[in-house]
Amino acid sequence: MENAILIHGGAGSPYSMNSVLEDILKNIKFENNPLNMVINPVISMEDNLLFNAGTGSVPRIDGSIQMDAAVMSGREFGSVICIENVKNPVLVARDVMTKSPHIMLSGDGATEFARMMGHEYYNPQTERSMERLRKFMEETGKTGMPDKFKFLEKKTGDTVGAVVRINGKFAAAVSTGGAFPMLRGRVGDSPIIGAGIYAGDKGAVVATGIGEEIARNLLSYSIYSQIGQQSLETIVKREVDSFAVSCGIIAITGDEYISYSNTTMAYAYREF
Ligand code: GLY
Repeated sequence: MENAILIHGGAGSPYSMNSVLEDILKNIKFENNPLNMVINPVISMEDNLLFNAGTGSVPRIDGSIQMDAAVMSGREFGSVICIENVKNPVLVARDVMTKSPHIMLSGDGATEFARMMGHEYYNPQTERSMERLRKFMEETGKTGMPDKFKFLEKKTGDTVGAVVRINGKFAAAVSTGGAFPMLRGRVGDSPIIGAGIYAGDKGAVVATGIGEEIARNLLSYSIYSQIGQQSLETIVKREVDSFAVSCGIIAITGDEYISYSNTTMAYAYREF
């Protein structure tokens, strides 16, 4: 059983971005700690404005940028919800898990906690993400509630994630700016344990796509709970193919891995 890492660039990200992800896996520091190992590539993706996470996150329809991130290793979990003005939400999620008595922190409390932990003020806004908001406003004339059906048709890349297996132990990490267009305060699947992320003794799973639908199905835990009953490929394909909206999964077990989506989804895999 080789140590292995699998990362993705979000449901909807083009396969042409596989090479960007492969470069990230070539350049990250390899270490034996599953939690660190899963966080390292997510930091690189958060710092790369091509991805909808950290710098480059999509804005809310009021123009603010609120981000979600989570980590899970063994049975330990930490997440931040609608955090603002930090560079790497995944590192704050790790601090929630390892340095606080809690498992989830949201909104102002998450941002305040980040400052307490030494994460400095940082504006993740990019010209590209604000241009997208301007275009949306122009096209729809909307400043209020996003249209439910347009939201579900969303086809752009969202969320980044990673899963690892090291010496039979598993970890998962996820980070996202959310699903555009969305209201301020909206929460998707990513920071919710069992919805956008799950890791335990049998493996690790991370989801991407329309968070509302993924959360309704508790998708990551649903897949995790079936590990061992059938091949990972059979389980993941059945679950993902049952979605009418954008949905993708990366998952790893003791002897299998899969990256599968009902839309395009860039990914990279490496054994070490
Ligand atoms: N899958 C990310 C989100 O819906 O927020």
